[in-house]
Amino acid sequence: MAMRVLAIESSCDETAAAVIRDGRWIEGNAVASQIPLHQQFGGIVPEVASRAHVQAIVPVIRDAMAQAEATWDDIDVVAGTMGPGLAGSLIIGLNAAKAIAYARDLPFVGVNHLEGHIYANWLAPASEEHRPPAEPEFPLLCLVVSGGHTDLVLMRGHGDLTRLGRTRDDAAGEAFDKVARILGLGFPGGPIIQKAAESGDPKRYPLPRAWLKGSWDFSFSGLKTAALRLVQSFPEGEVSVSDVAAAFQESVADVLSTKTAQAATELNARQVAVAGGVAANSALRAMVQERSPVPVRLPPLKYCTDNAAMIGSAGYYRYLAGVRSDLTTDVSANLPIA
Ligand code: KG4
Ligand code: ZN
Repeated sequence: MAMRVLAIESSCDETAAAVIRDGRWIEGNAVASQIPLHQQFGGIVPEVASRAHVQAIVPVIRDAMAQAEATWDDIDVVAGTMGPGLAGSLIIGLNAAKAIAYARDLPFVGVNHLEGHIYANWLAPASEEHRPPAEPEFPLLCLVVSGGHTDLVLMRGHGDLTRLGRTRDDAAGEAFDKVARILGLGFPGGPIIQKAAESGDPKRYPLPRAWLKGSWDFSFSGLKTAALRLVQSFPEGEVSVSDVAAAFQESVADVLSTKTAQAATELNARQVAVAGGVAANSALRAMVQERSPVPVRLPPLKYCTDNAAMIGSAGYYRYLAGVRSDLTTDVSANLPIA
């Protein structure tokens, strides 16, 4: 019998709900982005985000249910993101998920947002069920790169994650956002830097790489500072924005892809998976594929950034493993991936 998870995600600046069948098939997927709302401030304002989640949450859940043509009787499990993220944002989605579980007397599963990102690699639209994409294979070496986190994780099975390394300062996505601001490019920085870099020469301005040899950790704050100094060394308006963008993007992608490939070799991973908003970056996708010693899984672009479909998939596999979260489960802003 088919099993449907209703999943809710509100950890940062997207209010999202999804209906996922059997952990892999997307029947409904609704995302209300707050990007235009935060653009006027050049970044995410937590109080503004929280209020926007309150306004969007019910319509977004209705939208996901309508897309799935699901009634409440079709839902078997409710999953909600419990962290990490902005506490005032997380609380809106988590409480909505718990309230639905309570009202419908359904099992509730709390999901780690970062683990959720990895599950974007399991997803496909229900319309493609006739040619199912292969499931990722364990041990899976995962590079999780988002706006707030950069983690290298070995996944030996569902729910069996070991963090090998993490960023010691800025997350990769955060570095994209900050360098975009230095270049006067707007928010969010990742897609805009990628666009600017298309016409840039990555070799014109050399930027550093922090290898942190002997560890699987990363560091991007030195690179960000080097980009700032480079821009400041030119009279206003004379630096080539596209060349800085290309050099910066190449530095980030070089370090991330090299260390991911090395870890895959040393830990005998069968596959590599990339996840999180920065997994949408074309330079990173190309470099990981080029360097990995094993097959690489890359989520479809639209499932890289925050959504609830990935939370539904992670929630389904947690549920299968016997996980049931209590309705007293609270948000955890700093929840680590493992
Ligand atoms: O995973 P995500 O949607 O939210 C968090 O959990 O943080 O990631 C958002 C981050 C932002 O920093 C954004 O600039 C970055 O992902 N991003 C990208 C690209 N698309 C989004 N970074 C580089 N290249 C992209 N194409
Ligand atoms: Zn995210």
